[in-house]
Amino acid sequence: MSADAKLTNQNYSLFDYGGMINAKNAVRTEAFTTALKNCITPETVVLDIGTGTGYFALVAAQLGARHVYAIEPNPAIQVGREAAVDNGLADRITFIQGMSNNVDLPEKVDVIISDIGGALPLCGPLIRSLADARERFLKPGGIMLPERDSLCAALVRAPGIYASYVAPWDDNSAGLDFHRARQRVTSLVRKQPFQKKNLTSSLQEWASVDYGQLNSPHYDSELTWSPTKAGPVHGLALWFDRIFPGGQQFSNAPDEIGNPIYGNLYLPWSEPVDLAEDDTVTVKLRASFVDGNYIWSWQTTVRTAQDVEKARFSQSSFLSQFKARGQPGNATLSDEQPSQLPSDELAAVA
Ligand SMILES: C[S@@+](CC[C@H](N)C(=O)[O-])C[C@H]1O[C@@H](n2cnc3c(N)ncnc32)[C@H](O)[C@@H]1O
Repeated sequence: MSADAKLTNQNYSLFDYGGMINAKNAVRTEAFTTALKNCITPETVVLDIGTGTGYFALVAAQLGARHVYAIEPNPAIQVGREAAVDNGLADRITFIQGMSNNVDLPEKVDVIISDIGGALPLCGPLIRSLADARERFLKPGGIMLPERDSLCAALVRAPGIYASYVAPWDDNSAGLDFHRARQRVTSLVRKQPFQKKNLTSSLQEWASVDYGQLNSPHYDSELTWSPTKAGPVHGLALWFDRIFPGGQQFSNAPDEIGNPIYGNLYLPWSEPVDLAEDDTVTVKLRASFVDGNYIWSWQTTVRTAQDVEKARFSQSSFLSQFKARGQPGNATLSDEQPSQLPSDELAAVA
């Protein structure tokens, strides 16, 4: 892998890139293509950040853009170069292998298109890269595609999924004590598709990523729910509603059309909690951008209708990490807004 590809935290193979444009994932490509159609004229200059194998760059040129710049650190960018020749579009696309942050363009652009995140756009240095690109490359009044991601959260009941996290550490045939591994695994934040039947609360928007603003890479919110049905709850599911200029949108919410492509992000609880319908769940949710990666923290309190505390967890993805302090890629407290980390994360690195 090239050093630049490492910086993205993404190391896709050609097989992976094929999956992204596979017709069964057409909801994604069609949403972006419609958005391109709505803004491209013969004068339009487009920048495709994270072009991969060049799909959106080729589509933009096919739709008649005057010129397209396509940036990608992965060597699979060669596929885009070849396809541009094979489709008679090579004279209107400039492919640049590298990270957008390290690239200069000869002109400003009218449209920046990118789909470089996963289950959520809060993934590696993505928000920083797009803020940099908007600042340096977009003409005043230019268009970012997508325009906005509305980040949503809900409580989930998922006993089977939760067991797949904790069962290996709770119970092993040698009777070994793996309680620390259990703590780590319930601190892991990872992609996990859910279905609507897993949701046990209303959904709430907890942040809005407005690609025309991108003032800070840090996002946080305090959410309060009463469950919609009593019974055990195993954590939170997060997803996005992706919105384009003019209001066209798609979502990776459970059972929504984008879910099979992007999945959801799962924030497990330290323990399942058997909720009554009149319990109140409060979650302080924070995504802190530290040393090029996101540290997630979710502090949960459950109180009964009589205001008695039923459960309290203070969790952080920081606790799932292994690397020794100071190693490259490790999340250490840097000068990157350390005050934004909650006190237990500060304790963990002290
Ligand atoms: C999910 S793939 C999308 C590929 C293609 N645009 C598509 O939609 O089919 C995201 C790509 O973005 C690239 N990437 C991430 N950050 C980047 C940056 N700052 N500059 C250029 N490429 C970036 C990754 O290497 C990866 O190939």
